[in-house]
Amino acid sequence: MRLDRFLCEATGLTRSLAKKALSRGEITVNGEVVKKGDIKIDEQLVCLEGRLLSLRPPRYIMLHKPQGYISASQDDVHPCVLQLLPAELAAGLQCAGRLDLDTTGLLLLTDDGQWSHRLRSPRRACHKTYRVDLAEPLAAGTIERFAEGVLLHGEDKATLPATLDMLTPTQVLLTIQEGKYHQVKRMFAAAGNRVTALHRLQIGDILLDDTLAEGAWRHLTPEEVASIQ
Ligand code: URA
Repeated sequence: MRLDRFLCEATGLTRSLAKKALSRGEITVNGEVVKKGDIKIDEQLVCLEGRLLSLRPPRYIMLHKPQGYISASQDDVHPCVLQLLPAELAAGLQCAGRLDLDTTGLLLLTDDGQWSHRLRSPRRACHKTYRVDLAEPLAAGTIERFAEGVLLHGEDKATLPATLDMLTPTQVLLTIQEGKYHQVKRMFAAAGNRVTALHRLQIGDILLDDTLAEGAWRHLTPEEVASIQ
């Protein structure tokens, strides 16, 4: 593996921060300062500021996000979802996709950048299912409109086909294949309605574990990890 990739994977640093650590002379390989990340490393001892680095297996976490938490690692105003995990587990994890402050439900966290990228990639169209509470009864024709695609305010392309299942006149299940900014709320706004509560139940084949209370988490099973291809 290349040294720069090893540094990112072993520390959770971004590529640009790893490059800076290298150029500042903070990295040694078998005791020698190395300033370029393009060398191959195998069994050598790599240290960052004298601390020996090792790869730990990637972590994949399912969290039942409560309202009032922000899907980020740091925020000046609101508590962050990472604060719901033990500090030693949270270090280096990133949210694989986001939920709004007031949205609840399934949030995935990982330190595996490639897995997270696959999950979020528009090309792979990983389906996400939400339970949506609405201010007004669902208008006639909304199911068909969402299936055809809706042009959201400020966008030049319609949304990809989405599936809507009515549970009650003001509660629906919506499955979408993208993750545009505030997509669900904007889709219902485009249909003349307003979302009053939003809860994510599923991403691809990964279902929110119904034994997890709000704020609780668990590791993904190997099958759940492998389901994101
Ligand atoms: N769509 C939204 O509008 N909000 C979310 O949190 C997720 C999807």
